[in-house]
Amino acid sequence: MKNYSITLLKGDGIGPEIVNEAVKVLDRTAEKSGFTVTYTEALLGGCAIDATGVPLPQETIDKCKASDSVLLGAVGGPKWDDQPGNNRPEAGLLGIRGALGLFANLRPAVIFEQLKNASPLKSEIIGDAMDIMIVRELTGGIYFGKRGQFEEDGVKAAYDTEKYNVKEIERIGRVAFDMAMKRNKKLTSVDKANVLDSSRLWRATMIELSKEYPEVELNHLYVDNCAMQLVRNPKQFDVIVTSNIFGDILSDEASMISGSIGMLASASLNSTKLGMYEPIHGSAPDIAGKGIANPLATILSVAMMLRYSLDEPQAADAIENAVAEVLKTYRTPDIYTEGTTKVSTVEMGDAVCALI
Ligand code: IPM
Ligand code: MG
Repeated sequence: MKNYSITLLKGDGIGPEIVNEAVKVLDRTAEKSGFTVTYTEALLGGCAIDATGVPLPQETIDKCKASDSVLLGAVGGPKWDDQPGNNRPEAGLLGIRGALGLFANLRPAVIFEQLKNASPLKSEIIGDAMDIMIVRELTGGIYFGKRGQFEEDGVKAAYDTEKYNVKEIERIGRVAFDMAMKRNKKLTSVDKANVLDSSRLWRATMIELSKEYPEVELNHLYVDNCAMQLVRNPKQFDVIVTSNIFGDILSDEASMISGSIGMLASASLNSTKLGMYEPIHGSAPDIAGKGIANPLATILSVAMMLRYSLDEPQAADAIENAVAEVLKTYRTPDIYTEGTTKVSTVEMGDAVCALI
């Protein structure tokens, strides 16, 4: 029987609770689909700072590299706010992305039929469906660029730099064009080419690359316009490709349009099959340990893992179908509406398992 080794980075806040439910669902799926999974746990973020002094111990990198795939809960919390910038839980997250070379971040923003009313946008703007795939560059740009603090005429100053080279842009561009080919063949590249040199290079590179994909209709938007278009007419988008910082911001905006940040999964991929999968929401320290966190985004991240890293598309379908089905009846408090049954984190995991 096929066995997959998965490293679990449960992280902080609600991370452990939601990862536990996702593991339960993965085990159930494995049993039904005829494969097995073995797990190794490793520390990332605040829990790693508490245990070892640093947010990303070398042991964590080694364990991730030795596994078939990585499942992450969430990192961070007010407890570690006083850490210096390079030792914060978030630095651990950027560090593991860099160490594993996870340059491509896929963030699907979809509206679940059952949760349509949860979107803050009017139903005529949403239409029948919203299904956008944001492809965010994840290991370059300003989050990884040169930064520093200095003094300027006796005044404190600080800087960060946005830099991309053609290879980095082509690499993420290919992921996005390939994705567009599998979907509706429509790609929007987002930049700020009216101001930034790095964006002008980004745009020119995407145009050059588009010659290899004659079937894909490529258009370009400035990031400020894109932010506006996302709430004005989200239906116009299929695949969006953009830089690390713009993708960070636009994916939060897109997630809110879906009405339920607790529902959205993500995949971070490198040039091998090893990927890291995580919900796009944070560690929600305010509700940690209360048993009310929504585990569905993490459960859907497992579905992405089965699809993109483990080549088990049917098992991925089984999880996605079970989640769609479960929403008809069961809701965690964040997505609860009258007429449905309010359940805890654990009960939600059980309900999904029962449908697989
Ligand atoms: C995300 C998060 C991270 C990021 C933070 C926690 C460093 O906002 O995954 O979108 O900015 O990439
Ligand atoms: Mg973010």
